[in-house]
Amino acid sequence: MSLWNKHQIFEKNSFILLIGIVVVIAIGGLVEIAPLFYLKSTIEKTEGMRPYTPLELAGRDIYIREGCYLCHSQMVRPLRDEMERYGHFSLAAESMYDHPFQWGSKRTGPDLARVGGKYSDEWHVEHLVNPRSLVPVSIMPGYPFLAENRLNTRDIQSALSVNSIVGVPYTEDQIENASSDILGQAMPDTEASDGFEERWPSATIRSFDGNPKIVTEMDALVAYLQVLGTMVDFSIYDDKANSR
Ligand code: HEC
Repeated sequence: MSLWNKHQIFEKNSFILLIGIVVVIAIGGLVEIAPLFYLKSTIEKTEGMRPYTPLELAGRDIYIREGCYLCHSQMVRPLRDEMERYGHFSLAAESMYDHPFQWGSKRTGPDLARVGGKYSDEWHVEHLVNPRSLVPVSIMPGYPFLAENRLNTRDIQSALSVNSIVGVPYTEDQIENASSDILGQAMPDTEASDGFEERWPSATIRSFDGNPKIVTEMDALVAYLQVLGTMVDFSIYDDKANSR
């Protein structure tokens, strides 16, 4: 019997064909899934990553509440056109403290994974209040109420503890002082900001919406946008690439 004739066994008997399909899929599944059980971590350790501060975390919650993810992704793909436009491709470690992650696949607007530091705080405030004042052809909706809404600081402590349950390494001290720190980061030269500085040495303190007297939802959202993609220092990688 030639090889082709042997194949008839599968083609003429649907039950044998079914078993054949199951065997082939099982092999494919094993090859893809089995390594995940013995790999310690699929995320490589990356220097610079820290959990979001209470203010940034609150900003992230507003980002999700307002549905910004419906138009913006947060993952730079490792393709040449993306890297020329947005910068170094995203690392798994960069979203290790995101619950849930904001990678997305819908880009009505640009990717925001590396938007931190691209514009000034004033630019963001004005853009969020009325996008068309800066980008005349923009179809992004305005969010002027963010600048008026006082930030809710009541739930932030629970938000930090929930994140710590799913593995974000917040310290007891950071969780306990979350509601003071949420104000401290946006109000420079206050008692709260002194405490914040001690607990969050690598974060920046400033009034993100330009009004240091009250802490608004705008403060939180801009603090979040300005930290996106800035935690890992990619100049180390770029220097290596240049000296090659
Ligand atoms: C209906 C879709 C839509 C929604 C919803 C939306 N955006 Fe946008 N966004 C856009 C578009 C389109 C642009 C490009 C034009 C512009 O800059 O306004 C943009 C631009 C931006 C930029 C500038 C990015 C850059 O690199 O130039 C930022 C920052 C931004 N959006 C943040 C937000 C935030 C924060 C929210 C939620 C509060 C949001 N967007 C909601 C469509 C949207």
